[in-house]
Amino acid sequence: MRILKLLALIFLVYLRPTAAFTDYLIKKCSQSGFCVRNRHYANEIGLGTTAPVYSVDRSSVKISTENHTITAIVEKRFSTGEGPETLVTLPLTLDIMNGSSIRFTIDENRDHIEGPLRLNSRRYNETAAWAFSPDTPYSLAEFKTSRSVWPFSRSYLQLNSVSGLVSIRLHYASFKLEIFYKKELVFTVNDRSLLNIEHARQKELNQRNKSPAETTFSDFSDSFRYSKDDTLPFGPESVAMDFTFHNIENVYGIPEHADSLRLKETVASDPYRLFNVDVFEYDLYSGMPMYGSIPFMLGSRPGLSAGVFWVNAADTWIDVSYESQGAKTHWMSEAGILDVVLFLGDQPSDITSAYTLLTGRPNLPSLSSIGYHQCRWNYNDEKDVLTVDSQMDKAEIPYDFIWLDLEYTDNKKFFTWRPDAFPNPLKMLKKLHRMGRNLVALIDPHLKVGYEVSDAVEQSRAAVLTSQNDTYHGHCWPGESLWIDTFGECGITIWSSFIQRFVDKTKNLFIWNDMNEPSIFSGPETTAPKDLIHAGGFEERSLHNLYGLSVHEATYNAMTQVYGDSSRPFILTRAFFAGSQRTAATWTGDNMADWGYLRISIPMCLTNNLAGFPFIGADIAGFSGDPSNELIVRWYQAGMWYPFFRAHAHIDALRREPYLFEDKIQETVRKVIRLRYSLLPTFYTAFHDASVNGTPIMKPLFYAHPELDETYKIDDQFYLGNSGLLVKPVTTEGETDTQVFFAAGLFYDYFTLESLEIHRPGHYLVNAPLTELPVYLEGGNIIFRKDRYRRSAKLMARDPVTLVVAPTAEGVALGSLYLDDGETLLYQGGDFLKVEVTLKQNELISQVVNSPDTESLSSSNHIERIIVALSRQASLPSVAKITQGNTTSQREITLDPTSHFFVIQNPGLVVGQAWSVVFE
Ligand code: GLC
Repeated sequence: MRILKLLALIFLVYLRPTAAFTDYLIKKCSQSGFCVRNRHYANEIGLGTTAPVYSVDRSSVKISTENHTITAIVEKRFSTGEGPETLVTLPLTLDIMNGSSIRFTIDENRDHIEGPLRLNSRRYNETAAWAFSPDTPYSLAEFKTSRSVWPFSRSYLQLNSVSGLVSIRLHYASFKLEIFYKKELVFTVNDRSLLNIEHARQKELNQRNKSPAETTFSDFSDSFRYSKDDTLPFGPESVAMDFTFHNIENVYGIPEHADSLRLKETVASDPYRLFNVDVFEYDLYSGMPMYGSIPFMLGSRPGLSAGVFWVNAADTWIDVSYESQGAKTHWMSEAGILDVVLFLGDQPSDITSAYTLLTGRPNLPSLSSIGYHQCRWNYNDEKDVLTVDSQMDKAEIPYDFIWLDLEYTDNKKFFTWRPDAFPNPLKMLKKLHRMGRNLVALIDPHLKVGYEVSDAVEQSRAAVLTSQNDTYHGHCWPGESLWIDTFGECGITIWSSFIQRFVDKTKNLFIWNDMNEPSIFSGPETTAPKDLIHAGGFEERSLHNLYGLSVHEATYNAMTQVYGDSSRPFILTRAFFAGSQRTAATWTGDNMADWGYLRISIPMCLTNNLAGFPFIGADIAGFSGDPSNELIVRWYQAGMWYPFFRAHAHIDALRREPYLFEDKIQETVRKVIRLRYSLLPTFYTAFHDASVNGTPIMKPLFYAHPELDETYKIDDQFYLGNSGLLVKPVTTEGETDTQVFFAAGLFYDYFTLESLEIHRPGHYLVNAPLTELPVYLEGGNIIFRKDRYRRSAKLMARDPVTLVVAPTAEGVALGSLYLDDGETLLYQGGDFLKVEVTLKQNELISQVVNSPDTESLSSSNHIERIIVALSRQASLPSVAKITQGNTTSQREITLDPTSHFFVIQNPGLVVGQAWSVVFE
């Protein structure tokens, strides 16, 4: 009977032909104990019939100016009429961090609690240790307390940062924090008194531990059909808090959801949920949980931006409502401590930058990995792989990575190769390497029970354990499996040894960590039971959303041990958390070959980009199903702008490598992929900017034009990093023209360089026949290209560069180029080239901002063309005087009357050295 049920579940989750996700497998708020309890609490408090039960004990406040920290005790105090008053003491810390950020934590002392022996009784407080970057020291800023309030004569304590930008009022009476930026009130924390910490209690005394506003729904048992077995050893232990963003009416972030960029109100629906689960063919425009979770929310309006980072990796629900005074949000997590960082700034980019300073800048991937990736489930054998490889060349379509999905393994046993199909992987890898190509192989964290790898894990107790302390067994691709526990040293070490052995002696083999939510076909909500136990004695409940990160980080670290400085490991992960951007790329999971999934991929990628994890893409042209020709073209046209550019298809889908497309379709797709390659220098510069400042690579319009109110609701177009390239993909069937939003100024059609003069910001209708995609270069920018067709990114290393200059009406433009060896870690020691080119007063000047140590980087990239776009008003210069070093030459400029630009061919310049061109 159990087996039948299991088979039915596997069929429902994975093998159904087409239709949206079976969402009844996933809890609604009404089926989730802590969601119901906290929403109930919010309602009761909102009605005003019960008084808040939290306050700060004034006498406990300690100010350590030396450590830049405030500590105090928050008291939870109430009486039920039955027995004595309940008093719970909750330690608070409050810090101002460098750079206009604030952090506070509220914990609970649970030393007196007796859970089952194998469990750690304290609340899980290690989320920050995983999420925060080990490279950026967590630095606290100096602050001053307002003398006038010392010693606590008023109802609050005020702290002012020495920079003068930030001040905080800590109100004692009901624990509230008011946060001011440049004297303006931006946040109120616990504005609506929704702070709720379900303190530890014995089951028998549960009723006595409920304040009047609380309910006991699913406290010690779970009534949801698929998670009835949850033992809930600590009973209710959720944490919740509300944050009001004052006068900010747009909030974004908290990926991953298949929803609009600007978050929707959840007043009449379920809250947004963050809980990593496997959602094959997920629902669209929904707040249901998905594969990854980043509990970071951005609020923004012209002139002011703010962020909330809820440092908690447990199952989390977030309610959002927009009111005339701003956005109100209510965060609820099932376990863990309350740990929050608030960010303040003028622009949205300030917030993403501060958030990625804390959690780590996105890692700079190899140049190859931002080329085109060809994947499907599955390439069947070595011959198949090498045939795809050579057919791509024959069709003159560049690509850099070919992928091996599940079936390359011997019976789905990870770290093995199917001997009949892949008898000599090393030889295959070498053949691929000759053209600079790479292979990615799938390694999931579930290990089939009963082979040497899983045996070793089980014997060293490095697997995730059941609530009874036995190795947990569940079902995934290989059938009965166990799961590596990469939370503990033992698990990390053994995993690392498998990875190292697997990639040893290769130069171009990289890893795809899939199903790491973890996906468990036999588990509740497609994932792990919440009472499983991890290293340190912590329940899955407290750290669930970190599991994927712990796996891909262990994989990455193992690979760096093998490759050392010579290569940047490429890892693709499906599950993610805050901090995943340091070591992996991700994608939007199992979508469908359907227009709705193409459309949603844009806001989904934009959301990840603003939440600090820009290396993301969606399966082109839809994972399951067979796309029409039109959808294929439109998806490649949109997908070439995804930071992670990969085609992938389900095992049941027809083969769709681009060289198989009929001629006209193939021609358009070839052009699109080649366009990505010609723009690789611009993409790579955008990746570099992301790795330095967290700058989104797919950048929402309101990041580029935060001064314009209209941009805050646009999520179907975007800019490429700081390049000024504006893209509006066509995502509707049959559409041959489309509305594009332009800010005021000059824009140039990317392909013809014809100028468009926009006097009033707004939407304008543009032509977009199937063979064309609307791309514009905003006046004021200079971009860099490498226009020659090569088979892979690596083979382009020494290719000459083309500059495209797009002046404003005032004749001004600016652009930068980052270049390094594209492969090793030498750039970290400063071995890279960075140039900045400006156009001003008819002079184009290139300055070298950073010279590389490697001579060839500064000398081998020649400029083969400088293209200057002309607006209708601009007058054509007649000569260009070109100077580099001591050499000056002169060129006459002529213009073909049908074109909108002039070109200086082979100006005799080298990118890596200073030069100038004066137009007269
Ligand atoms: C999961 C992945 C998908 C992969 C499949 C088989 O569904 O999301 O990309 O092809 O597993 O490994």
